[in-house]
Amino acid sequence: MLVTGGAGFIGSHACVELLDHGYEVIVVDDYANSTPHVFARVERIAGRFVGAVYELDLRDRRALSAVFDRHSVDAVMHFAALKSVSGSLEAPVEYYDTNVGGTTALLRTMHEHGVHRLVFSSSGAVYGDAGPGLLDESAPVRPANPYAASKWLCEQILADVCRRRPEYTVLCMRYFNPAGAHPSGLLGEDPHGVPGNLVPYVAQVAVGRRERLHIFGGDYPTPDGTAIRDYIHVMDTVEAHRVALDHLSDGPGMRVFNIGLGQGSSVLDVVAVFSETCGVQVPYDIVPRRPGDVAHVVADASAVTLAWGWRPARNLADICRDAWRFQQLNPRGYAGAGRGPDSKR
Ligand code: NAD
Ligand code: WQD
Repeated sequence: MLVTGGAGFIGSHACVELLDHGYEVIVVDDYANSTPHVFARVERIAGRFVGAVYELDLRDRRALSAVFDRHSVDAVMHFAALKSVSGSLEAPVEYYDTNVGGTTALLRTMHEHGVHRLVFSSSGAVYGDAGPGLLDESAPVRPANPYAASKWLCEQILADVCRRRPEYTVLCMRYFNPAGAHPSGLLGEDPHGVPGNLVPYVAQVAVGRRERLHIFGGDYPTPDGTAIRDYIHVMDTVEAHRVALDHLSDGPGMRVFNIGLGQGSSVLDVVAVFSETCGVQVPYDIVPRRPGDVAHVVADASAVTLAWGWRPARNLADICRDAWRFQQLNPRGYAGAGRGPDSKR
């Protein structure tokens, strides 16, 4: 199994899930938002080695092709992308180039090597500002920023490939708000720089690495005035991917699934559940809305349950507890962590 972006937040947890279930794992990552230190942790948790790790930019087709030449790849989990909404507003070309260009480079290389099975990281961001109510997979797509548009473009490219070439099976997973950490506390979310996402920011405030949480907007049309999202545990997210592998042989074509809990939580809910579950205060100020944010994004996550009999097992308290354990054990993230023994790299 080739995992692109396997050093990242979701990709590293996916590596553990795959190793735990007996898969051979090959990773490519350019560490744009991650560090190779993570693999010592992955291997410690799984008690197995990652087969090989290659530092490369997915758009480097020659380097990518050499990986496919060297290993017998039967399917790809494609996590590698740039994922910051605000980053995409500042550098749209970089986002399109990395996310769309990375995906087309991967597809061309897969095609050249006769690999036709892909699980793709899409995003609930493709729905944009949909208003209240649960979003199912048939909800209108209205990407509101270059990041979301890049994911939607990738979905359209993948759909075209599947329409033209019946040998392809593609599963597009539209995640809502993955958060939390591996229950060991060894693996978690450690983005470069200031976290853009809520849960890692809350955890960094709780551990004293940042002073206060800035809650972006207290005047949304929601019960407490703060914005509502669908937070799903990263372990549930990667479990869904592992289950997806069993369904890559269900038949050709592309299928799209929401991956969410199907329950909304406001920013103040997250702060309250974090404080209560972890027994730690999270000082905050309510500040103006963040440009581009919307009031309410919650999945109708029933299609994946109907199709595969799978549903998430963890709730917001589990997300907060696990994120907090990782943050306490790694107050400065993976910085300074040892690489661990692995002669294969
Ligand atoms: P992440 O930034 O932690 O992981 C992405 C990984 O891809 C990083 O390790 C990064 O170094 C690598 N990468 C980036 N550009 C690359 C390139 N050109 N070549 C090779 N590697 C490259 O992000 P994540 O949260 O783990 O997200 C994984 C995927 O899930 C992304 O595609 C993201 O868009 C998608 N997604 C994430 C969320 C979320 O909230 N975390 C929600 C929906 C979808
Ligand atoms: C959640 C809520 C913020 C930080 C983004 C992408 C989405 C997906 C997940 C990739 C919002 C508020 C946040 C802070 C805050 N990623 N917040 N203070 O914006 O729902 O979704 O990440 O695909 O596509 O759009 O997630 O975690 O940034 O924010 O008040 O310091 O927390 O305003 O309401 P978001 P988030």
